[in-house]
Amino acid sequence: RSFNLVIAVDGPAASGKGTIAKAVARHYGLPHMDTGALYRAVGLAVLRRGGQPGDAATAEAAARALDLSLLEDRALRDAATSEAASGVAVHPGVRQALFDLQRAFAAQPGGAVLDGRDIGTIIAPDATAKLFVTASPEVRAARRQAELASRGEVRSFDEVLADVRKRDARDAGRDAAPLVQAGDAALLDTSDLAIDAAVQRAVALVENRIGAMRERG
Ligand code: CDP
Ligand code: CDP
Repeated sequence: RSFNLVIAVDGPAASGKGTIAKAVARHYGLPHMDTGALYRAVGLAVLRRGGQPGDAATAEAAARALDLSLLEDRALRDAATSEAASGVAVHPGVRQALFDLQRAFAAQPGGAVLDGRDIGTIIAPDATAKLFVTASPEVRAARRQAELASRGEVRSFDEVLADVRKRDARDAGRDAAPLVQAGDAALLDTSDLAIDAAVQRAVALVENRIGAMRERG
């Protein structure tokens, strides 16, 4: 390839963006970064210190001294960690502390795939292809409920749906890098798509962008 293939995958909680990003990265032989895991690690660090995710100073300190071993922690995917991640992610200082790491990952030779909330808007605004992955809140809640159950965390559908809605509202409503579809991102609604079909559709959308780029020269 004569250019770095950078693919930005954004979307709300449990839309399927991580699954799609991983599969697309494998398809193109590119490295993949789950940027949500970074915010989860910061949120988990704050919880472990007995701090409040809403407290900017505590969250910023945790982000600047990011404990990478937390990325492998079993509690990274817990519902409480999701909530804490979204809580720390509102602070500009936290986002700034995680910025260089993500930028450098996106800029590596050959390209990369990153998934999160602000990849197409802030981290990689010049990405070759941008996907905005969505699904209805009910579908996303059902997926997340099943995922938590498979890990032994049993929650009611209504409880998970309320969590998903609350996190959507906070992620989209914050001032710092809110969750929003980039103007040049392709929308991929996975509500009625199985994983294989969603991945096929994602690859087709990326191929469109690569084709358009080749035509432009
Ligand atoms: O997998 P799920 O969509 O539930 O969450 P995640 O991608 O692991 O992200 C957890 C939280 O981190 C989100 O609710 C966001 O508040 C925050 N986040 C962010 O602000 N920016 C990113 N690029 C990625 C995640
Ligand atoms: O990264 P994000 O939180 O957006 O979602 P994910 O972790 O990729 O997917 C959340 C759950 O939904 C996982 O258990 C996936 O296997 C499942 N999923 C699905 O059932 N159908 C899809 N089209 C995509 C994901």
